[in-house]
Amino acid sequence: MRIDVIGGGPGGLYFAILTKKARPDAQIVVHEQNRADDSFGFGVVFSDDTLDEFLSRDPESYTMIRDRFAYWDDIRIRRQGRDIRCGGNGFAGCARLDLLSVLYSRARQVGVELRFSETIDPATLLDRFADSDLVIACDGINSRIREQFAAEFGPETTLMRNKFAWLGSTRPLPDFTYFFRETAHGIFTAHAYQYRPAGRDSGPISTWVMETTPECWAGHGFDALDEAASARLLETIFAEELEGHSLVTNRSLWRNFPKVTCRQWHAAGKILLLGDAKATAHWSIGSGTKLAMECAIALSDAVVANGQDFAAIAADYESARRTAVEVTQHNAGVSLAWFEHVARSWDMPPMQFANVVMSRAKSITYDNLLLRDPDFVAATDTEFYQTLLAETGIDCRKSRPTPMFTPLKLRELVLANRVVVSPMAQYRATDGVPGDWHLMHYGARGTGGAGLLYIEMTCPSPDARITLGCPGLWNDEQEAGFRRIVDFVHENGDTKVAMQLGHAGRKGSTQLGWEDADHPIARADANWPLVSASPIPWFEGESQIPDELDRAGMDRIKADFVAATERAARAGFDLLELHCAHGYLFASFLSPLTNQRVDGYGGAIENRLRFPLEVFAAMRAVWPAGRPMAVRVSASDWAESGVSEDDLFAIAKAFSEAGCDLVDVSSGQTVPHQQPVYGRMYQVAFSEAVKNELGLKTMCVGAITEAGQVNTIISCRRADLVAVGRPHLTDAQWSLRAAAWYGVKAVSPPLPWLSGASQLLRESAKAREKQMELQRKAKPKRHHLPDAALKEAAQ
Ligand SMILES: Cc1cc2nc3c(=O)[nH]c(=O)nc-3n(C[C@H](O)[C@H](O)[C@H](O)COP(=O)(O)OP(=O)(O)OC[C@H]3O[C@@H](n4cnc5c(N)ncnc54)[C@H](O)[C@@H]3O)c2cc1C
Ligand SMILES: Cc1cc2nc3c(=O)[nH]c(=O)nc-3n(C[C@H](O)[C@H](O)[C@H](O)COP(=O)(O)O)c2cc1C
Repeated sequence: MRIDVIGGGPGGLYFAILTKKARPDAQIVVHEQNRADDSFGFGVVFSDDTLDEFLSRDPESYTMIRDRFAYWDDIRIRRQGRDIRCGGNGFAGCARLDLLSVLYSRARQVGVELRFSETIDPATLLDRFADSDLVIACDGINSRIREQFAAEFGPETTLMRNKFAWLGSTRPLPDFTYFFRETAHGIFTAHAYQYRPAGRDSGPISTWVMETTPECWAGHGFDALDEAASARLLETIFAEELEGHSLVTNRSLWRNFPKVTCRQWHAAGKILLLGDAKATAHWSIGSGTKLAMECAIALSDAVVANGQDFAAIAADYESARRTAVEVTQHNAGVSLAWFEHVARSWDMPPMQFANVVMSRAKSITYDNLLLRDPDFVAATDTEFYQTLLAETGIDCRKSRPTPMFTPLKLRELVLANRVVVSPMAQYRATDGVPGDWHLMHYGARGTGGAGLLYIEMTCPSPDARITLGCPGLWNDEQEAGFRRIVDFVHENGDTKVAMQLGHAGRKGSTQLGWEDADHPIARADANWPLVSASPIPWFEGESQIPDELDRAGMDRIKADFVAATERAARAGFDLLELHCAHGYLFASFLSPLTNQRVDGYGGAIENRLRFPLEVFAAMRAVWPAGRPMAVRVSASDWAESGVSEDDLFAIAKAFSEAGCDLVDVSSGQTVPHQQPVYGRMYQVAFSEAVKNELGLKTMCVGAITEAGQVNTIISCRRADLVAVGRPHLTDAQWSLRAAAWYGVKAVSPPLPWLSGASQLLRESAKAREKQMELQRKAKPKRHHLPDAALKEAAQ
């Protein structure tokens, strides 16, 4: 078997070593355009987990690089000269040049042939390697092979907004450090770490990746500076942080990070993409080197397992790595987005700022940090309680209930904690009347410990309903049904109850959620006429074409909402929300994709807002002044030319000025061709943007399943309330259980459950201790410390 590897970077070399070890009979040749001692970049970073994997795969190369490591446990966040540390992180840095020379000598040792100064022309690749069984294309981020075979690989490259440059320095750094510096033009971040022990020889020992917005970069005139002058200017910006050391350049040019993805990783029956050539992950969550080497392991496994069966190799490789790569890319995207908007967190107190830096990429939550560094979490909580006291007069300094179990005040309403049962349609009403099912369902969730319980979308007239099973609030019987539920919840605990009023618009007259949702009711004569902002059906050719809502229709609908608001107030609801999300009537006005009107209600966002705002203002006028109101919005349509971030800010601001106390930030469901990017907490960034940019109170929702996530969101100022939907469908006492998990006694169960709740507290404390112990044991050992440091650590 003959394998040609194009590109002698860490990905290609590691693949060649592992494969040659497992298949000594294979002839493996690495072609590298540079000379052996040419190298760009400074250090590379590996986590303990990755090092464990290297140790198990090739102990020889692992041992060769281990003694060249700089190893650190703490992450340091230094903003404007003030330091915060978070421990328990376990990373090692190593010089890229050292890593490459170790991999070269190991490759030679196992019998891989290395050919330097040999540039492969992608156009002649198939002819040149006609006799090869496999060609591994790991020719880096600007891969010309990827572009040559673009029709098969289907690559997409997106340039990110911020400018960055890699530099080195002679300054030693005991920790992985984020330096933040504010200048007249904006904020600079330096992601800095030491990658080899100090004093071995002269030259740089730490990597400094500099990052800033294009505006700040241009404001300082970097666009007119060459590499050397740019480094000198950075030295003045980070003068205090560099402590007299200089910055060293090595192709340290400013660039925009390209996010590369490929539809498939194989082409021409013999070429496989590897490393940066195939997919890039922003360096702010770890190095591309790590990703390239992890993929090299999987590709080698696939080759060893399948011999010359190219289709099987390609399939195994993709199935082993595609999800992992996409998850890494997604997390990297979330992390880089935080750095692009660092200014939004700039006013935060020190611990909160450090906490946001630590948990920016979603994989580190409150509970992970508790495990890594409990003192860091305790200090963050203390600062949170102090801020809460200063801003609201609510004092949680002694009870320390964790951020998610602190109260929130909205007008005269005080919620006992930050967990909300999200509105969830039940499709169980008859003629819009809530019955026994609703009393049971909402009664259970209203006594399960959440601060606020939402009732599902309820409609102010029969033709405003989504389905025949949706509840309404247009007659006395419905009002009485809701009064029964609200009274029950109020009588049995602290949970408050919210009514969500909405109009289905073009998504009305459809089947129940568990039937063919969003499709017209099967019995043709049961359907009713629809209205929307514009006459665009939901499913082209199948759904009814709605009438464009005229002024008389707007007046009728507004009057219906006002009447329902009065009923909701009489029924005793504590908070009222207008549903302007998910493609229903008001959302159809807000989104440019569904509002194509040419009158004063279409066009610019100010116009698209007019009707929803008018209804909201009319409701606010009759809703009791002491009770808060909310609006649910779709922050993005997840479709081209949909609602933009500027639209979102305009919407949130306008409702707030009309008396809205809470922006409930959801997303999507406005058009059937949406392409949402799902993942845990996937909508939280929208809430965070509204909250930090406009200073408004927000609620977030979407794929939030763990208490640790809720605590992270609240303590990092990403939202004021967290709505939990699907988990509450099967677990009415989700909040009671979460409180018991943290040993928090602030959540009181209904009196008949007291003995069960105290048992839950005791058992949860034991279960939690056991789980943390297991997690501590599962943590990678510190065996990656170089021998000298290990001895020191043991003393
Ligand atoms: C300027 C720069 C500085 C960086 N600095 C760092 C750093 O300090 N720390 C860090 O962790 N990461 C750094 N990175 C990122 C890191 O280098 C990559 O993520 C990682 O090396 C990916 O490994 P790879 O094997 O896929 O590709 P690479 O390491 O990029 O290797 C690709 C190799 O292919 C060779 N090649 C390309 N085309 C041909 C051809 N036609 N014929 C033959 N050979 C070819 C190139 O010369 C190169 O050696 C840096 C990236 C850049 C662009
Ligand atoms: C069965 C079901 C019914 C829903 N009904 C409503 C509703 O009536 N009003 C609303 O605004 N959102 C509704 N949603 C959306 C949820 O409130 C929530 O935003 C969504 O499920 C994401 O949160 P989760 O991941 O915690 O479930 C519904 C979702 C589901 C799954």
